[in-house]
Amino acid sequence: MTAIEVHTGPDAQATGNAVDAALRTIDANITKFADRYPADTTQDDRYPLRQGNVGWTTSFWPGMLWLAHELTGDDRYRDEARSHVRSFVERIDRRIDLGTHDLGFLYTLSCVVPWERHGDERARDTALAAADHLLTRFLEPAGIIQAWGDLDDPRQRGRTIIDSLMNTPLLFWATDVSGESRYAAAARRHADQLRERILRPDDTTFHTFYWHPTTGAPLRGETEQGSADDSCWARGQAWGIYGFALNFRYTGEPSFLQAAQRCADYFLAHLPADHVAYWDLVFGDGSGEERDSSAAAIAVNGLLELARGLQAGPAAQQYRAAAGRILRSLVDNYSTAGDPDSDALLRHGVYDKPKGVGVDEGNLWGDYFYLEALTRTARPGWTSPW
Ligand code: GLY
Repeated sequence: MTAIEVHTGPDAQATGNAVDAALRTIDANITKFADRYPADTTQDDRYPLRQGNVGWTTSFWPGMLWLAHELTGDDRYRDEARSHVRSFVERIDRRIDLGTHDLGFLYTLSCVVPWERHGDERARDTALAAADHLLTRFLEPAGIIQAWGDLDDPRQRGRTIIDSLMNTPLLFWATDVSGESRYAAAARRHADQLRERILRPDDTTFHTFYWHPTTGAPLRGETEQGSADDSCWARGQAWGIYGFALNFRYTGEPSFLQAAQRCADYFLAHLPADHVAYWDLVFGDGSGEERDSSAAAIAVNGLLELARGLQAGPAAQQYRAAAGRILRSLVDNYSTAGDPDSDALLRHGVYDKPKGVGVDEGNLWGDYFYLEALTRTARPGWTSPW
């Protein structure tokens, strides 16, 4: 047995050290980025500066600042995080790069958190405006939220993606805060459709799936960032674990928990010896392919959310133990451990291997979900913002 297999997760000392190291990197990044945004991925261990608040990943930077505040209670992190609300207000008001389902990723961390945890009414109103904008992407009669592009773009029309399961929490939240059922109703129909079509009978997932824009008939699956249409893109499977588990949390619908469990069982059965997935689950040790540490970080949170949904019993224990093994490997083998020569918290992620983007680099979502996993571990009972 290797050292990694002996331990079920980082112990309190190792978790504390990993948190301290992450906070050192965040402190350095506050000096470098302040209220601006790092790029999606590092280049040679450094995040270039992004030009403006565009793209799907900017909220992960204030998201990490909020986590740093929750971990330390240090108001400096809260103030830094709150300084980003203005930019997200402007993004909605000026309609900057809003043609995406990713509004959930963007506005949950940047605006729902400051409302829920600090009563910021401007942030609440902005998150509600983002939910309204997301609803404009809901397509009848398919009952799905279109992922990318203009609604009349023939290449993107009727297409949605597994990652969108992380965006429905914004809609469930909008119903909670507004009392209007239309947000949750759309989220529920969308998640139902993904459970039926994007999750395949063998428990793998398509990255993307098309519905006919006028009849609503299910058409076909297709990949964008995976190895092949019928392969299993590792990050997509991890989004499936976490996304279905979150949709269960909001609806109590048991089939979402079962879907999360099916995604988890396949993911765990296709991990290499060090427990950190290659970028597509068709690859294993000896393939010469890169790992995707961000898929591992997302999966840790998904497994812990799945275990929370299952509450008790041997299956919940097994998912918690598996999450611990993956997190332990990330801490020991993939974290930058506060290395001043890196801006990232995690090394060895893959953004889009087929297009050669962000391959074997750090990335913002990997860093965010790694810190979320450490927060869940360091603060038992803490509830994620999704
Ligand atoms: N949500 C986009 C990605 O995972 O690459």
